[in-house]
Amino acid sequence: MHCLDEPVTSPLPLVIDTDPGVDDTLAVLLALASPEVDLRLVTTVHGNVELERTTENTLRVLHLAGRADVPVAVGAAGSLVHPQPERAGHVHGAAGLGGVALPPSPASVDRRPAVVALAELLMSSPVPVTVAAIGPLTNIALLLHVFPEAASRIGRLVVMGGSATRGGNVTAAAEFNVWADPEAAQVVLGSTLPTVMVGLDVTLPTVLGEAGIARFAAAGPIGAQAAAILQQYLAHARAAYGTRGVVVHDALALTEAIAPGTLTTVRRDVLVDTGPGPGRGQTLVDRRTVSTSPTAVEVAEGVDSAAAVEFLVARLSTLDARTRQHPGPRDCGPRNG
Ligand code: RIB
Ligand code: CA
Repeated sequence: MHCLDEPVTSPLPLVIDTDPGVDDTLAVLLALASPEVDLRLVTTVHGNVELERTTENTLRVLHLAGRADVPVAVGAAGSLVHPQPERAGHVHGAAGLGGVALPPSPASVDRRPAVVALAELLMSSPVPVTVAAIGPLTNIALLLHVFPEAASRIGRLVVMGGSATRGGNVTAAAEFNVWADPEAAQVVLGSTLPTVMVGLDVTLPTVLGEAGIARFAAAGPIGAQAAAILQQYLAHARAAYGTRGVVVHDALALTEAIAPGTLTTVRRDVLVDTGPGPGRGQTLVDRRTVSTSPTAVEVAEGVDSAAAVEFLVARLSTLDARTRQHPGPRDCGPRNG
C-alpha cells in the first residue's frame, strides 16, 4: 500500500521468516519502522527457542508496534533431518525475549501453515516479493521442495546465516541458523534462488552500542521495550565477548533487505557441511573465484558498520512516533500485490 505522506515509490512487499529471538525482534521492528517496505506476512520457525514460543513472541512483537494486523503463519517445529542439538535460551532467554513479558496480542495465527501462506502470497503477488530469512532455513527449504513454482517467484531472498571467514558462533565451525538445520541450509544455498548471504563476516563487526540503545529507548514505550529485551543479550555479549554492545545479526540482514546494496557482496559458490563431524553446519564459501554458476550466492563481504548501526537506531527511534500517527494498518489504497 502507498500513503501520500510516504515515498512515492510503491513499498516493497516483504516477508520475514523468523525465530524470535532478541535480534529477530529488532529486525521485525526495523521493518515496521521502514516506509520502503510493506510487511505482508511473518512466518515462524523453530530455532532460538521452541516454535510455540517463537510464534507467540512474533504475535506479541507485532502487537507491541501496533501491527497485530500483519498475518503470522506457523512453520516448522524442527529441522528437516536431524534434531537441533540445543536451543539458545541462554542467549535469548528461556522464552526468547530476554526475560521480557510483552502483552499478549489480540491476534491469532493464520490458519494456513507457513509454507502454504508464503506460497499463496508469492503466487498472487504481481510484483516480486523479498523474503528475509533470519532463522533456521527449514521453512524455505520446504517451500522449495513442496511449492517450487512459488519459490521461483521470490524476488530476493536475504538470509542471515553462515560465515565465509569468521568461523562459527555456536561451534568453532558453524553459525547458529545454518547449524540448526544444515540440510535445509544446503537445499536453500544450493538452489537457484536469488540469495544474499548475510553472515558473521559482516554481522560480527556491526555492534549496536549502549549509546544507540539509549537513543531508541528514550523515543517512547516501544523503543523502551526493545531496549529492555536487549538487556540480557547485552549482558551475554559482555560476558562472552567482553563487548559493550550487541551484535544484531538479524537487523543487519533486514537492513540489506530494506536498503539493497547496504552490504558489499560477491557471487560465490557455497556448500554446507551436512556431515556428523565437528564441521557440521559450516558454510564452505569458495573465495578463490567470482562464481558464474546459477546456484551462486551473493555473499556479503563488506559493511559500513557505523552506517548500518545508525540506520537501525534512527529507524527504531521513529517507531513510537509512527505508531502514534498511524496506529494499525495504513488504509492508503490497494496493496501492490
Ligand atoms: O547466528 C545468529 C543467528 O542465530 C540470528 O538469527 C540469531 O537470532 C540466532 O538465531
Ligand atoms: Ca534469528
